[in-house]
Amino acid sequence: MAEFVGAIDQGTTSTRFMVFDHSGAEVARHQLEHQQVLPRAGWVEHNPVEIWERTSAVVQTALGKARLDARDLAAVGITNQRETTIVWDRRSGRPLHNAIVWQDTRTDAIAATLDRDGRGDVIRHRAGLPPATYFSGGKLQWILDQVPGVREAAERGDALFGTTDSWVLWNLTGGPDGGVHATDVTNASRTMLMDLETLDWDDELLGFFGIPRSMLPRIRESSAAAAAGPYGTTRVLGPFGGEVPITGILGDQQAATVGQVCFAPGEAKNTYGTGNFMLLNTGTEIVRSKAGLLTTPAYQLGDEPCVYALEGSIAVTGSAVQWLRDQLGIISGAAESEALARQVEDNGGVYFVPAFSGLFAPYWRSDARGAIVGLSRFNTNAHLARATLEAICYQSRDVAEAMCADSGVQLEVLKVDGGVTINSLCMQIQADVLGVPVSRPVVPETTALGAAYAAGLSVGYWADTEELRQNWREDTRWEPQWSEERRAEGYAQWKKAVERTLDWVD
Ligand code: G3P
Repeated sequence: MAEFVGAIDQGTTSTRFMVFDHSGAEVARHQLEHQQVLPRAGWVEHNPVEIWERTSAVVQTALGKARLDARDLAAVGITNQRETTIVWDRRSGRPLHNAIVWQDTRTDAIAATLDRDGRGDVIRHRAGLPPATYFSGGKLQWILDQVPGVREAAERGDALFGTTDSWVLWNLTGGPDGGVHATDVTNASRTMLMDLETLDWDDELLGFFGIPRSMLPRIRESSAAAAAGPYGTTRVLGPFGGEVPITGILGDQQAATVGQVCFAPGEAKNTYGTGNFMLLNTGTEIVRSKAGLLTTPAYQLGDEPCVYALEGSIAVTGSAVQWLRDQLGIISGAAESEALARQVEDNGGVYFVPAFSGLFAPYWRSDARGAIVGLSRFNTNAHLARATLEAICYQSRDVAEAMCADSGVQLEVLKVDGGVTINSLCMQIQADVLGVPVSRPVVPETTALGAAYAAGLSVGYWADTEELRQNWREDTRWEPQWSEERRAEGYAQWKKAVERTLDWVD
């Protein structure tokens, strides 16, 4: 068997390719950003051609840097930003519109109508999702309705839909020359079109959005079952320069759940990126949330039953730090947010609720907009920086409270990963705000690692999930330091601040 496993991580702001060895250690990596296309307020697009070009480039460069080729890889996995919607022409391979990104709110009218006539409740129950602009169904409807010729092309069977995993898979396996059109249960579940129980597209849900079934990818397990074989094989003329079986596909947050080896019910992880995504493994049971969380497949390994999760999705966390840098100019880089926030002992009474795209979990209020409250003349940039880090942590507490309410599971330790976790002050505040220890593993790239695990399990590179557990090691742990009183007081103030952001948009 070849020595390594590869993983493509097609994210919201960048695409990376990583190679791992059997111990889960990194062997090679390359990463490239792509353009954020912002044509109007609330609209966020990506160019799918650029995404494919970046994907090819990161694979070639990472392999080249480590002097590896296709023969060194036992398998490759794909993980991706979820929900982002692409429609392309199966004959030419050209996208029919830019990708509409998960953060895009242009479909708020579509989402709002779903709750007026009972369709919303059907979606909640069957797909496990509240009707919201976040998910792909409305975005796909928008493209079918608004882009001339797309509906006709879809009805002829020429237009294909996919999230970015499907787009990358189709291109890796041949594009117009026989590319494979497939996705996995975790990605399909984010469309509002898949039934959580059957793990298949649901005709009634498709009807709600007027979506022809013929344009949808085949839904498969997250780690290809041996009997069914790989999703496809990389083509020799593509970026791998040889044939590698593609055997793992997982949405990025589910991939991080696998990378953090949260394989037992009750185990949870929180990923800190542009947004935050906390997932709690609930086993093979579908737990329907009453507290504002999503119900979502965590993974389906081979022919084993699907394992589900409760998810708290927060739209704006790391991107609030970027906002301090890009829009306010009070820091020159993300790292500086820590130094600036450390200049003060506390938030000086300032609370910042970065509801830039409305509020996601557990509120699901698209009418919310950001607010900075509690200001007095005494406050400085440092207080605002600290309030921004606290906002990341308080939003995660909101989600953790909802998880406890839905599942009865009391968090004992929070496993964390993602870019923001290098901010040690932020992680300390997280432990303080939650009142439980926060633990970061040695390999912080859990998203790519999880996709590699899914791919490697499929081909027997790793024997089972127990073997993967042995690879997980703690790097740093932050213990809570605040008194109970300070914790309760701070959280009460945060909740008051959240109230101020609601009902802002009619
Ligand atoms: O649901 C959106 C999520 O998958 C995006 O993750 O890390 O690409 O911002 P990320």
